[in-house]
Amino acid sequence: MWKASFLKNEDIVVQFLFIIILQKSLIENIYLKKVDKWSILNPIVEAFMIDQKLKALLEGVKEEVTILSLSTAFLYHELCDVNWLGFYYSKNNQLYLGPFQGLPACIEIPYGKGACGRVARSKEPLIIADTHEAANYIACHSETRSEMVLPIIIDDALYAILDIDSVSINRFSEEDKQHLLACTYVIAASIKSI
Ligand code: SME
Repeated sequence: MWKASFLKNEDIVVQFLFIIILQKSLIENIYLKKVDKWSILNPIVEAFMIDQKLKALLEGVKEEVTILSLSTAFLYHELCDVNWLGFYYSKNNQLYLGPFQGLPACIEIPYGKGACGRVARSKEPLIIADTHEAANYIACHSETRSEMVLPIIIDDALYAILDIDSVSINRFSEEDKQHLLACTYVIAASIKSI
């Protein structure tokens, strides 16, 4: 009886020591950067913050071209698996290439033509899951396999579209769309505030 209860206590002591050693090792690994404690949480936090970070970046900027250029550089480097990101601005029912990141692209797109032209007309976001399967699509870069196009609306009128391309099929999710829509609102508000 006594022996058994002693063994029980010993078990608890061993378990306690084991937990201490485990915690010590985890803390050491975090400090030594062997384990990144944010590695799982970070992408989620980052995605939620993307529009807020963009807003901070554009704070006080007073030139349209600077707002658009800063936005492309920021978003292009913030997003993973993107090969082209840029604006086409709207003028006389036509889209014209604006600031962008990536290879040179088509310079003019009529309303209704391609993914960008369709969004210019509908003023609704569009996700192309597979460019090879898409009808009414303009292939500026053959390596692009999926695409997301978002309208930038100022006072109910189309100001520009934001086009984001990827070499991966089905790169853009509904969640991506929501986060990037929030970014387009920030861009529209920045331009309106000039
Ligand atoms: N694919 C677009 C044209 C623009 S480029 O992808 C940069 C479209 O179908 O409108």
